Amino acid sequence: MNPIPQHILVTGGAGFIGSHLVEQLLALGAQVTVVDDLSTGDETNLVYAKQMAGDRLQFIRATVSNALVKSNIPRCHEVYHLAAAVGVRLIVERASQSIETNVLETSAAIRWALRDGAKLLVASSSEVYGKGVRVPFMESDDVVFGPTTSSRWSYGYSKALDEFLTLAAVTESNLQAVIVRFFNTVGPRQKGEWGMVLPRFIQAALAGNPLEVHGDGSQQRCFCDVRDVAPALIQLLRSPQCIGRVLNMGSDEMISMRELAERVIRNTGSTSRIQNVSYEQVFGKGFEDLKVRQPSLQRIRDAIGFAPRISLDTTITDIAAVLRGARTEERAA
Ligand SMILES: NC(=O)c1ccc[n+]([C@@H]2O[C@H](COP(=O)([O-])OP(=O)(O)OC[C@H]3O[C@@H](n4cnc5c(N)ncnc54)[C@H](O)[C@@H]3O)[C@@H](O)[C@H]2O)c1
Repeated sequence: MNPIPQHILVTGGAGFIGSHLVEQLLALGAQVTVVDDLSTGDETNLVYAKQMAGDRLQFIRATVSNALVKSNIPRCHEVYHLAAAVGVRLIVERASQSIETNVLETSAAIRWALRDGAKLLVASSSEVYGKGVRVPFMESDDVVFGPTTSSRWSYGYSKALDEFLTLAAVTESNLQAVIVRFFNTVGPRQKGEWGMVLPRFIQAALAGNPLEVHGDGSQQRCFCDVRDVAPALIQLLRSPQCIGRVLNMGSDEMISMRELAERVIRNTGSTSRIQNVSYEQVFGKGFEDLKVRQPSLQRIRDAIGFAPRISLDTTITDIAAVLRGARTEERAA
């Protein structure tokens, strides 16, 4: 990898993935500015980064578009745009705010990168594949969304628009950008409150509460540890062959939600039981979910040799240890 450029902007840097990325960047010697409005993030996610950084970390509590016009941030060499409204439950409950955040803030991040002549990484999502049925999902696949009357699809649509905006700037303005479609990313600091399944299961298991599995639990997903993901983001943005491309990011090892709940119970030694709840009960009428969501990792493997190393059992053990307060995240990592 080339030497790390001096000044890097991370939008959404006080969030789950963002805060792990910030630590990686600081460890490489960069100066980092975090812009985060703390809507779902938490400044405590940056405690360890602050210890590492001394005066190399600046935190600005603001939306991306406000920070772009109001703040006096020095020129950035790289922008990692992770700020977004995240989580299916959040999107269903606050659809208009979520759509605006995802589209308008990405537009602001693009303008920021163009103004500074910086490279840009845009966080997209596996939700862009909508309800496509191909296994595994390849970046060149058609996207298939449900009707606009179901707000559940607005997250996928908004992320797809982010991709169109970014790719248009690549073509029209020679923006140096990479788009990353995250599949389920998990690890310490992820919150369960907006529907993220693994922290929700682990919190319930530790409290002895039922683990609520949506539907019959046969739906399959793939989980990748954030500590595998964060360093790969830096590699992607710094690999010339990735510029102007869309890449899947995640693990391709599938597990059903029923098996995941069983694995969490076993791993934590919990006495909790599994309780099936209907999608309708959780998300309202007409909610559609995918049976299988698995990425093809061919492109990212070819590009940077990406291969997740941390097992799901290790991730569960580490998250549980942090939640129990038995050890700090840093030692868990
Ligand atoms: N975690 C996953 O499994 C996953 C899957 C697919 C896509 N993603 C994408 O990865 C990115 C990071 O997600 P995460 O899991 O770390 O979620 P997160 O909620 O922890 O992080 C998002 C951060 O963005 C901040 N934010 C939201 N709106 C903002 C705004 N207008 N201005 C500034 N900051 C704002 C939040 O406060 C939060 O800190 C998001 O773009 C998300 O869509 C994540």
